[in-house]
Amino acid sequence: GLPASVTIYEVGARDGLQNEGTVVPVEVKAEFLDRLAGTGLRTLEATSFVHPKWVPQLADAADLLARLTRAPGVDYPVLVPNERGLDRALESGVEHVAVFASATETFAQRNLNRSLDAQFAMFDAVVTRAVAEGLRVRGYVSMCFGDPWEGAVDPAQVAAVGRRLVDMGCDQLSLGDTIGTGTPGHVDAVLDACVAGGVPVERLAVHFHDTYGQALSNTLAALRRGVTTVDASAGGLGGCPYAESATGNLATEDLVWMLDGLGIAHGVDLDALVATSAWMAGQLGRPSPSRVVRALAG
Ligand code: HMG
Ligand code: MG
Repeated sequence: GLPASVTIYEVGARDGLQNEGTVVPVEVKAEFLDRLAGTGLRTLEATSFVHPKWVPQLADAADLLARLTRAPGVDYPVLVPNERGLDRALESGVEHVAVFASATETFAQRNLNRSLDAQFAMFDAVVTRAVAEGLRVRGYVSMCFGDPWEGAVDPAQVAAVGRRLVDMGCDQLSLGDTIGTGTPGHVDAVLDACVAGGVPVERLAVHFHDTYGQALSNTLAALRRGVTTVDASAGGLGGCPYAESATGNLATEDLVWMLDGLGIAHGVDLDALVATSAWMAGQLGRPSPSRVVRALAG
């Protein structure tokens, strides 16, 4: 069966804008988030408190959060890799953070400057303190469906990394197809491994990049397995600066179109969302890659 409703976890302002060739002005980011809140989206990943030299596109995180009109009922999670990041996030008054682990050795080195094993010590300190401060904590796992340097990734390895994050205190686990190579049968295999490894399906979210055009099919596969939180980015913005083969995330508009067709509730006003993404495409100076935005934007 399919769920009656889905929570859309919007990542455009973070996963989308972290990959732009130029730094988007902070007032444009703030307006983007305000407009997204106005579409009915209730979870807006806003930015990252990572090292500003690693991701200069999001170096304005504190300034952005200070400018934001925090809409009632809207959750604004941020990425935090380490205790320095958590300190900065707490100074900005955040209530929800996300750590981001790698399922592979090579990507742990490239994205976190840590070995696969050493990433857990870094996150353990963050999650323990964040939970003690009363924050909600999401755990991402990247490269769950393949790694550009290592190739195939064993689903049991994904499950083992994910389980460690949940045991640390992460309330939700987002399974990332960072480079978009997964297909629906693969989604079944990774979800099976996670559930067999002790992570209940209610705790799982999926995070598909659309590099190979599989994101929507993969999402449907995950919904059929009982997943009810889906990551997406408005207009299909996105990528990862430390995984060159990654392109944009599943476009939120494409997801909303499919959910509408399936009669699954999501709470988003599609016209307002398309208008927001068309506006953002104008700010970035290029068309949105989302098929639904292209079809509907006047
Ligand atoms: P490092 O260089 O190993 O850090 O970077 P360090 O702990 O050795 O510290 C070195 C210096 O950096 C110190 O300063 C720290 O204070 C400072 P010094 O004492 O030398 O003056 N520093 C910081 N400053 C500000 N904010 C911080 C911070 N941390 C240290 N948070 C680190 C390690 C993890 C920080 C670095 O590798 C990093 O920032 N990585 C982030 C990479 C990133 O953001 N990637 C994109 C997000 S992941 C993604 O997109 C995938 C996802 O979408 C899911 C999917 O698609 O699969 C989530
Ligand atoms: Mg991503």
